[in-house]
Amino acid sequence: MAGCLYFTCHRPTYSGPLSLLLKASPLIDELALYDVVNTPGVAADLSHISSVAKITGYLPKDDGLKHALTGADIVVIPAGIPRKPGMTRDDLFKINAGIVKTLVEGIAQFAPKAFTLVISNPVNSTVPIAAEVLKAAGVFDPKRLFGVTTLDVVRAETFTQEYSGKKNASEATIPVIGGHSGETIVPLFSKVSPNFQIPTERYEDLVKRVQFGGDEVVQAKDGAGSATLSMAFAGFRFAEAVLKASQGVKGVVEPTFVYLPGVPGGDTIAKATGVDFFSTPIELGPNGAEKAINILDGVTPREQELLNACIKGLEGNIKKGIEFAQNPP
Ligand code: LMR
Repeated sequence: MAGCLYFTCHRPTYSGPLSLLLKASPLIDELALYDVVNTPGVAADLSHISSVAKITGYLPKDDGLKHALTGADIVVIPAGIPRKPGMTRDDLFKINAGIVKTLVEGIAQFAPKAFTLVISNPVNSTVPIAAEVLKAAGVFDPKRLFGVTTLDVVRAETFTQEYSGKKNASEATIPVIGGHSGETIVPLFSKVSPNFQIPTERYEDLVKRVQFGGDEVVQAKDGAGSATLSMAFAGFRFAEAVLKASQGVKGVVEPTFVYLPGVPGGDTIAKATGVDFFSTPIELGPNGAEKAINILDGVTPREQELLNACIKGLEGNIKKGIEFAQNPP
């Protein structure tokens, strides 16, 4: 599998560790890095690692974007600027929306069949932007476009160990659905499998930590950015899931932010939520998102409240992305 990873951050952020994980993966035989600076050096450094992937680094000059993308089976986009304390992910929209739009225009032209994994924030808006760009180019396949929300699942697994006192909570499947920012992130602890109890008095705290885990890192880094290492871990976990499923591994399910009407089973969820873009467990396969799994039935009244707030937030985020793509400033 050939992969392409965009940097476009002007700084060593999660694209560094993420490219290291991808370079080390036996599932990738070619890895192309693209950014406005630094990629030749990073690629030279990574090229000394004795894994199978052949690595190249491109800059915008000499048709770098075209060369990085041509032949890519999977494209991961962590591009853009990170948050500073006090900022929401939506505050990044002004800069990151344009970056994602330009990069996806490149994908539409040079790698229209690639699985496209968007990490760039605000994911709730950048994925609708990507969908609009691909649609306008006549190459949109909703089964191949994913917003990466895996870090929310990883955080839920991690914090649950602490709050439940269960050391093996990370082995449980903890669905986190909705979107990827604050109140749009909805952990469904009633749907954990195998089932276990969170002490009632700790439930609200746990939900809040999952929803606002990104802020903890932004505050701790104190102006130096947001989560990079944990995001690299999560981005790699999702990329690996897509790759494994594309190579025929069965039963691969991960929550991810998709365009519901274009994924089998997604219509029911779109109807129930009233939004077209939503993160829900997706069964992955050779063609990407093979099936959207509806886990909305039987949620608790508190989870329904969380979902209502999520949907309200998502509606605005999605609309903003679509309007930007349709009428760029
Ligand atoms: C995260 O969840 O850590 C990332 O989306 C980065 C951020 O801005 O919080």
